[in-house]
Amino acid sequence: MKKKRPNGSLAVFPGSFDPITNGHLDIVDRGLAVFDRVRMAILMNPEKQPLFTVGERVAIIREAYRGNPRVEVDTFSGLLVDYAEKVGASVIIRGIRAISDFEYEFQMALMNRRLNPQIETVFMMPAESYSYVSSRLVKEVFQLGGRVSDLVPPVVEKRLSEKCGTPLKPGRARRKR
Ligand code: PNS
Repeated sequence: MKKKRPNGSLAVFPGSFDPITNGHLDIVDRGLAVFDRVRMAILMNPEKQPLFTVGERVAIIREAYRGNPRVEVDTFSGLLVDYAEKVGASVIIRGIRAISDFEYEFQMALMNRRLNPQIETVFMMPAESYSYVSSRLVKEVFQLGGRVSDLVPPVVEKRLSEKCGTPLKPGRARRKR
């Protein structure tokens, strides 16, 4: 029988989010349709050289979801399943854009299950229009002068422009966030 949780169901959506894209936002929206709260958990990984610091990524996500108390943001280090257990989440959400994502995600999900069988991984598929969108490509395209306004929320475009010292490109109407 499903356990009743005092603060409702909580799912952790972990990632690097360097930076968030509209694909991530699409997954959060889908998560909110199933769970009461979605907590975006940014991995603090000293081995990676991110464009945005962890603090900047937290601030970007906070701004993107200002006024939506069902979306939380946090950072973590160490094992994801330990973090999920600590915050009382029994579900990890991961997005699968294409079959190419699947092998790595499947391995992680099974390893996480072995580490803590109480925590379930749920895969969600973003809209097909985001199937090719990744944080890495967004950064590359923006840094080389391409337009990313339909691929990221406005706050990300603004922060990219500040970070890279590049003016924003006028573009088509963007998704409102
Ligand atoms: O967005 P990313 O970079 O693909 O996210 C990867 C992430 C953060 C989900 C993964 O690296 C992770 O969970 N790291 C935490 C360390 C851990 O628990 N490792 C074992 C996973 S099987």
